[in-house]
Amino acid sequence: MSSTSTVPNDFRDKVVLVTGAGSGIGREAARSFAARGALVYCADINDRGLAETQSLITKASGKVQIAHTDVSVEEEVSSLLSRIDKEAGRLDVAFNNAGITGGAHRIEEYPMDDFDKVLRVNLKSVFLCMKYELPLLKRGGGGAICNTASVAAITGPGGMCAYAASKHAVLGLTRVAAMENAAHKVRVNALVPGWTDTPMVRAESAQNPAFAKHGLSAIPAKRGGQPSEVAAAAVWLCSSEASYVMGQMIVVDGGMTI
Ligand code: NAI
Repeated sequence: MSSTSTVPNDFRDKVVLVTGAGSGIGREAARSFAARGALVYCADINDRGLAETQSLITKASGKVQIAHTDVSVEEEVSSLLSRIDKEAGRLDVAFNNAGITGGAHRIEEYPMDDFDKVLRVNLKSVFLCMKYELPLLKRGGGGAICNTASVAAITGPGGMCAYAASKHAVLGLTRVAAMENAAHKVRVNALVPGWTDTPMVRAESAQNPAFAKHGLSAIPAKRGGQPSEVAAAAVWLCSSEASYVMGQMIVVDGGMTI
């Protein structure tokens, strides 16, 4: 067996971008990347959430920068990546994770504006982020991208047509990006979370208690996941330990889709 000087899971000297880092899974991933030595750029539209993430990472002696960025707007994504290039001079890892659920309606009643918004925030954003991240990753000799999908990318949850369509498409984008960039040493994979206890799910449950009761009872583990349990898979996918994993998804769902 050949020896290696690479410390598994070590992000020292790496520059990492996390979107949706002001809350939930994104915040936990940002904390974990920073704890492993990365300089983490945290992007979100939630300024208060970003400030909290920054404070948590700083208190733990981590390196962090925050950036108010709407990831569904091309100019904002482009200027975020220009800023990272200018300040840090490189990008090694990107966790494209920002997302929204949208309302719950059957297809016949789904409002067009809501459909467009969910597709913009969940799907167009992943395309835009990769469009501007890939040149930086390739220029640095390679790296890793993880895109957040959902169990709704591999199932058909009634009432969530826009969300499910956007997340199915995130898997498609991920596979194309992996195929196009494997030879450039950029690995692209997807995280597929199940029910995870974040503000997104808490807001949904508050509006619709039946959603929480029914949803949780359908999970073999009989509990929701913690954001840190889910973020850990994204961090691993972006680590050197996953160096031969490309175009795949990791489902972290307490057995929901068994
Ligand atoms: P969250 O609501 O706690 O965090 C999502 C973050 O994305 C928020 O801080 C929000 O401000 C940000 N965001 C929303 N729109 C944005 C935009 N246009 N530009 C920049 N930032 C924006 O939710 P959570 O649960 O941490 O979700 C993270 C990802 O995980 C999402 O893509 C979600 O679809 C996915 N997911 C979550 C599950 C769960 O049970 N919590 C299950 C499956 C997937």
